[in-house]
Amino acid sequence: MWDHERGGNVNDIVVELKNVTKIIGGKTLIDNLSFSVRRGEVYGFLGPNGAGKTTTIRMMVGLMAMTSGEVIIEGHNVANERSKAMAHVGAIVENPELYKFMTGKKNLLHFARMSGKPISQERIDEIVKLVELDKALDKKVKNYSLGMRQRLGIAQALLHNPSILILDEPTNGLDPAGIRELRDYLRRLAKEENISILVSSHLLSEIELMCDRVLIIQNGKFVGERVLDPNAEGNATEARSIQLRVGDGEHAKTVLADTEWNITASAGSSLTLLLMNEDIPTVIEHLVRNGVKLYEVRAVTPTLEDTFLSMTKGGHIQ
Ligand SMILES: Nc1ncnc2c1ncn2[C@@H]1O[C@H](COP(=O)(O)OP(=O)(O)OP(=O)(O)O)[C@@H](O)[C@H]1O
Ligand SMILES: [Mg+2]
Repeated sequence: MWDHERGGNVNDIVVELKNVTKIIGGKTLIDNLSFSVRRGEVYGFLGPNGAGKTTTIRMMVGLMAMTSGEVIIEGHNVANERSKAMAHVGAIVENPELYKFMTGKKNLLHFARMSGKPISQERIDEIVKLVELDKALDKKVKNYSLGMRQRLGIAQALLHNPSILILDEPTNGLDPAGIRELRDYLRRLAKEENISILVSSHLLSEIELMCDRVLIIQNGKFVGERVLDPNAEGNATEARSIQLRVGDGEHAKTVLADTEWNITASAGSSLTLLLMNEDIPTVIEHLVRNGVKLYEVRAVTPTLEDTFLSMTKGGHIQ
């Protein structure tokens, strides 16, 4: 079942975290975190600095043990079937490990040999095309730009045909053009290879443009999860902010005072209410019947930034 044209198959889960907790020195860094990534989606992992993104990713790829909870990758538990689980993961957690004095091609051949799995020349060619490095392959890595190194790192992570690519803050240090390129080919990768991609970031703008869904964490805790669809008209199963412009704001407030609908903001002739879709006509009817003149009704679509700020109560963002 596809619940969303860009959101992947809800029944086809590639990675699942169940109640993952990490405590170091009595401090809870990750607190009972659960989420899952669907096949073929670009999943954003958003949180302010120090929220616990890198810590979570390190546990997902088996670089750090968890205190409790489970990470399941393609049905394999990272804690006791690490190599089976990792066979499906391509990741860049810290800087990609590259040999600067070798060409891009030699680097890839080296990692292909190291992967312990036979990797054909065709596969290498295919990946190189995908990350648009075909023209730079005979250059030494020391002459690569940061964006090119990033792409070579991703090519290397993709060699063994993983079902999920995990990238910790992949746009760090890239210029706007590099960020745009990365965004474009990550989206293409998800679409053409049906690969899932988890990207962490502390930048909302980036996640908003790149991802199908986003998970927001703060202080190691789950804060929220959202589907990001630039064309969405709001989710019918969730309350939305509805802004009304009325003739007499005070009168409208009195009319609404004894109802179940709460005014979340008001200023002069403008009132904002948090309403379920089906309540909108009822509220309008109630106001009109009680003599409130209604000049405008509009849905206020919260941006991811509004959502993030209200969810994290002003958590640091950039
Ligand atoms: N080995 C460790 N021992 C103790 N505390 C740690 C350790 N590693 C990370 N932390 C703490 O855990 C918290 C989460 O850190 P983490 O690096 O996972 O955050 P992050 O979301 O990746 O932040 P950033 O956006 O800055 O990369 C921070 O408070 C950090 O100081
Ligand atoms: Mg980090």
